[in-house]
Amino acid sequence: VHPMRIFSGIQPSGGLTLGNYLGALRRFAEKQGEIETVYCLVDLHAITVWQEPERLRQQTREAAAAFMAAGIDPAQSVLFVQSHVPAHAELAWLLSCVARLGWMNRMTQFKDKAGKNAEAASLGLYAYPALMAADILAYHATHVPVGDDQKQHIELTRDIAAKFNHDYGVDFFPMPEPVIEGAATRVMSLRDGTKKMSKSDPSDASRINLTDDADTIAQKIRKARTDADPLPGTMEGLKDRPEARNLVNIFAALSDESADSVLARFEGQGFGAFKPALADLAVSVLAPITRRMNELMADPAEIDRILRAGAHRADAIAAPIVAEAREIMGM
Ligand code: ADP
Ligand code: NA
Repeated sequence: VHPMRIFSGIQPSGGLTLGNYLGALRRFAEKQGEIETVYCLVDLHAITVWQEPERLRQQTREAAAAFMAAGIDPAQSVLFVQSHVPAHAELAWLLSCVARLGWMNRMTQFKDKAGKNAEAASLGLYAYPALMAADILAYHATHVPVGDDQKQHIELTRDIAAKFNHDYGVDFFPMPEPVIEGAATRVMSLRDGTKKMSKSDPSDASRINLTDDADTIAQKIRKARTDADPLPGTMEGLKDRPEARNLVNIFAALSDESADSVLARFEGQGFGAFKPALADLAVSVLAPITRRMNELMADPAEIDRILRAGAHRADAIAAPIVAEAREIMGM
């Protein structure tokens, strides 16, 4: 049996959002303690679409600051940058030779991200799920906390691990489990309740950034798309109101309660009352994080030092696992 080890990552492809915080960072921080936690800033994933080099470098530091500000302690967790640890790219190639084209063709994220002109997308964007499998399997991770948008990728990782074990007649890679739990595992855009809130959405008004100040947060929530109907007493009543459902879910996630208990308090009220309450709540949760991020960003050399130390620890875990995979494959 494989000892329990948690792995997860976030792309430093833009400023992190409230979605990243509620769906990922906050959960990552909660998991620290008894279990080994490995958290990675996945810059090799970020470059599957164009990244301006100096911006990428800056955003990687900013993402590291966001992790630490959200409570990820680099002494407890292994916190590092993917490209600093060669095991990721190497194992990705080995696993690309295990994964089948047909499996990759079924990945919905490529279709979403490549858009209409898939021929112009990078090969890396297409191969992205094999790199993600390598990220997880290079650490023999057993549990992967993710938002539910990433569930399909974890399933693919399991398929790749199982095929490797089967083809080479070994019990080498553990089957990682996705850990998807709680409210707001998918925070939606403030402009369109059917799209997820994302740092890569071209509209800044669609998301709350962890670097937004109180006024910006209040303004974005005030302008969030909604309808004119009053709130019902339970979530059942929001079935056909995705924008309203999203705001209630965000409230519930921020206040750590169920959406139904939020609605029990706001039943019969309109968004004129709900939105200011949501804005106050969001500011009270995010302001301390933003403040801490700014403090950390004031000393980039210290962030770099922490990330180098994290890469060293990550390499010590992953390099021997990838060496063994190579050995199993006859190299
Ligand atoms: P993004 O879409 O913002 O680029 P990533 O793909 O880097 O985010 O995802 C990093 C982590 O954050 C993943 O665990 C993902 O599930 C989570 N996440 C991203 N967006 C959201 C969201 N809108 N709601 C909940 N979790 C999210
Ligand atoms: Na993403």
